[in-house]
Amino acid sequence: MRNRRIPVMAYSPIEQSRLLHAPQLREFARHHGMTPAQAALAWLLSRGDVIAIPKTGCRKRLAENMQALEMALSPAQLSELDRLFPPPAGPRPLEML
Ligand SMILES: NC(=O)c1ccc[n+]([C@@H]2O[C@H](COP(=O)([O-])OP(=O)(O)OC[C@H]3O[C@@H](n4cnc5c(N)ncnc54)[C@H](OP(=O)(O)O)[C@@H]3O)[C@@H](O)[C@H]2O)c1
Repeated sequence: MRNRRIPVMAYSPIEQSRLLHAPQLREFARHHGMTPAQAALAWLLSRGDVIAIPKTGCRKRLAENMQALEMALSPAQLSELDRLFPPPAGPRPLEML
């Protein structure tokens, strides 16, 4: 997709909030002074060409999520997240939520 310059939209950017309960994400976020949602969204935004539209019906969480736009992750933080959440080794079927 990237090679063909086709934009990608995250299917479910914070996994309908389930991802936010992952202990390794919670610990990463706490350690780096952000919320789990901000860490997850900042990772998506770090790809540069991935669109993320997290759903929320709550103004406070909307503001929290928007702050992820200002939270550029360092190469070390990105490596840490890749270690905590290893990328798939190859193509996988899309999980149906
Ligand atoms: N998943 C699909 O099947 C699917 C299919 C087509 C299109 N999309 C589109 O993808 C976008 C969203 O994906 P999604 O609906 O799968 O879910 P998502 O955006 O991954 O997660 C939304 C859930 O996370 C909660 N949430 C949002 N921000 C939060 C925060 N900072 N802290 C804690 N909880 C937070 C929301 O609750 P509150 O509202 O209570 O904050 C909501 O329950 C939408 O634009 C949707 O239309 C999804």
